Amino acid sequence: MKTFAIYNLKGGVGKTTSCVNLAYLAAKEGHHTLVWDIDPQGASTYILRQQRTSKIDKLLKLLSDKEEVVENVLETDYENLFVIPSNDNAGRLELLLTDLKKSKKRLKKSVSTLKGSFDYIFIDCPPNLNLLAENIFHTADFILVPIIPSTLSENAYDQVYAFLEKNGYDTRKLIPFFTLVDKRKKIHQQTIERFEATKRKILRSIIPYSSALERMSEEKAPVQQFSPNSLASSAYKNLWQELKWFKKFKMISIEHKKALPN
Ligand SMILES: Nc1ncnc2c1ncn2[C@@H]1O[C@H](COP(=O)(O)OP(=O)(O)OP(=O)(O)O)[C@@H](O)[C@H]1O
Ligand SMILES: [Mg+2]
Repeated sequence: MKTFAIYNLKGGVGKTTSCVNLAYLAAKEGHHTLVWDIDPQGASTYILRQQRTSKIDKLLKLLSDKEEVVENVLETDYENLFVIPSNDNAGRLELLLTDLKKSKKRLKKSVSTLKGSFDYIFIDCPPNLNLLAENIFHTADFILVPIIPSTLSENAYDQVYAFLEKNGYDTRKLIPFFTLVDKRKKIHQQTIERFEATKRKILRSIIPYSSALERMSEEKAPVQQFSPNSLASSAYKNLWQELKWFKKFKMISIEHKKALPN
């Protein structure tokens, strides 16, 4: 079982969009795949056509060993793809976690009970750098960080990197990639070039700005379902292929990135 968190301190950068599309692709390949929506906004729950839950005790039980996590897993319309829906009270997770013992490792413990049930878990995270984020850093094998190529997004990523480094987390878990890219924009080009020049690790696959992706919440479906031939659909397929390659060889450094197959 591999756990991917789709995380960024910044909001609106394509976390949910990436989470749903990548999970869908994994499931389509026949892997037992779970989306765990821990964002109170419940966007991935919505796109996957499930209902958010509202009982706070359910959330508490989920993180304190009092309930089998697997009991919260719901089916989606797609074979092999499951979801733990968002809880309306997830915004209060921070408070709930503070009161629990080993408060930074609660999510990891809950996720570990799913071992054997899933091949891949994709966690759709809210945009914060708090105790919940630390739970995410402990839990995820890989932290996928969508970045819009702009100076502020770049700064936010560097901030996350510095936080992990300072607090003793494995920074090699961080896997950034560019999203919402419009190569006609100079600032996008410059940011991408700067990443290359400073040799910070970044995936080669780029997710372009795409109106098909914007439509996902209206269609309530992954982009591959309603626009399989779009550029966005191919971009997410490429990203998933690159991630699988990454996972297999545990390639972490920029040098290795250069050795990636086309
Ligand atoms: N590559 C893209 N091209 C165009 N629109 C996109 C793209 N990726 C995401 N969007 C749109 O941008 C908005 C934000 O995307 P998304 O919800 O995936 O971001 P998020 O990081 O999960 O946001 P939040 O921090 O609020 O959870 C949505 O309206 C989505 O449809
Ligand atoms: Mg989101």
